[in-house]
Amino acid sequence: MVKICCIGAGYVGGPTMAMIALKCPNIQVVVVDISKPRIAAWNSDELPIYEPGLDAVVKACRGKNLFFSTDVEKHVAEADIVFVSVNTPTKTRGLGAGKAADLTYWESAARMIADVSKSDKIVVEKSTVPVKTAEAIEKILTHNKKGINFQILSNPEFLAEGTAIEDLAKPDRVLIGGRETPGGQKAVEALKAVYAHWVPEDRILTTNLWSAELSKLAANAFLAQRISSINAMSALCESTGADVSEVAYAVGKDSRIGPKFLNASVGFGGSCFQKDILNLVYICECNGLPEVAHYWKQVVQINDYQKTRFVKRVVSSMFNTVSGKKIAILGFAFKKDTGDTRETPAIDVCHGLLGDKAHLSIYDPQVTEDQIKRDLSMNKFDWDHPLHLQPQSPTAFKQVSVVWDAYEATKDAHGVCIITEWEEFKKLDYQRIYDNMQKPAFIFDGRNVLNVEALRKIGFIVYSIGKPLDPWVKDLQVSI
Ligand code: NAD
Ligand code: UDX
Repeated sequence: MVKICCIGAGYVGGPTMAMIALKCPNIQVVVVDISKPRIAAWNSDELPIYEPGLDAVVKACRGKNLFFSTDVEKHVAEADIVFVSVNTPTKTRGLGAGKAADLTYWESAARMIADVSKSDKIVVEKSTVPVKTAEAIEKILTHNKKGINFQILSNPEFLAEGTAIEDLAKPDRVLIGGRETPGGQKAVEALKAVYAHWVPEDRILTTNLWSAELSKLAANAFLAQRISSINAMSALCESTGADVSEVAYAVGKDSRIGPKFLNASVGFGGSCFQKDILNLVYICECNGLPEVAHYWKQVVQINDYQKTRFVKRVVSSMFNTVSGKKIAILGFAFKKDTGDTRETPAIDVCHGLLGDKAHLSIYDPQVTEDQIKRDLSMNKFDWDHPLHLQPQSPTAFKQVSVVWDAYEATKDAHGVCIITEWEEFKKLDYQRIYDNMQKPAFIFDGRNVLNVEALRKIGFIVYSIGKPLDPWVKDLQVSI
């Protein structure tokens, strides 16, 4: 029986390994992590992450050929294939701080693999890493362990949160990069054989190591670029009276462009896009390509602009001040169908409104009060560095309450901001919400999920990203 061990039981390691276990009953899969609470949760009925369909997959294989353990060294030593799916956050200190990927967790995993290995192993980069990381990992492994053959493969993960199970079951492609040596190619074939249990052969792409590593960063940069492109257009739409949904539809009808990933929003979030683009920018700078670095940096800058622009719309529409006013924040996760808040635009929007002394009442169906308060108290980039958690700021929290119901959040509010596109927000009774709010009652739809006309009929003053402006909003506009 082939034995697989995955280091890192997070959003990628957990679901990916559960899918391998489900599709390959003849393979034993053990997911290991240094975090005891995380492993305990994987072994319980309350999985540590919310992901539609994940429970069923885990329950089908856990205890049969899928195991979760904190005994990292034992399971790594026993494995034939070791996936490394640890976090690779943005560096917060030192050289490249604010841009470069922090490979501390990766390096410590690699050193541990070298220490405990007694047999040949295929080591698979599952984490998103800077191009050429495999070379560094090879050096760490071979210099620390003589006589054992390590083959390094790059097998980046393309799943998106909220649709992870679907993406893993029917991937657009699986990408495997390896050394162009006989040993490297043999390792590529071995990993290919794992995926071939359920992925059609023409969807398993093999490349050299550097192409695989760079393709992951490139794919995320291209995806984020589409969002920043449509968000940039949304600003122009608001100034000209064009409707961004109509523009996106017309543009996306061109088969060379395609309709997906053109939804204007308050800004993209998530643990990947910003981090990976900043990493790409840093790599370009280090390779003497400042123009290329500048080009990609714009994608993140437009995203920051979009979040700031949203806050300015809220404040300027509400007579240029939100001081002491109650604002309901509906949605805190970075997208629907996940409880993940990493780099969610909600953090920047809340900070912006708190800066103007608003009182926030926040509701998200999947995010806990603890998580929201932790997120609002952390410095930028600190969220993925558990050891550097910032102390909570009590003054900010006097202005924040977290509630478990959208009607409670909006009661007596002056304004409502839709930050996450949860389905339930489309179905709320907006007449009831209006009746219980202060007047004039404002709605700021950061996801374009609400029916603007229906809301205006009720009496709301409505702002929806990239849509023709409400005369009220237009009249009170400061230049943004
Ligand atoms: P995560 O933070 O959810 O999980 C990483 C886990 O690794 C944590 O539980 C941590 O405790 C563990 N860990 C860190 N160092 C360890 C060590 N030395 N030994 C054992 N465990 C260790 O991160 P994630 O979202 O799963 O992302 C992992 C990687 O995958 C990142 O590089 C990310 O960029 C990439 N990625 C993420 C997504 C996504 O949607 N989240 C998608 C594609 C790729
Ligand atoms: C992304 C990539 O899609 C995935 O391939 C990669 O493996 C990890 O990073 P993820 O961050 O989980 O996945 O979600 P994604 O669906 O890409 O959304 C990212 C952000 O962009 C979210 O905040 C989402 O709301 C936003 N978004 C997405 C838009 O604002 N508009 C869109 O049209 C699409």
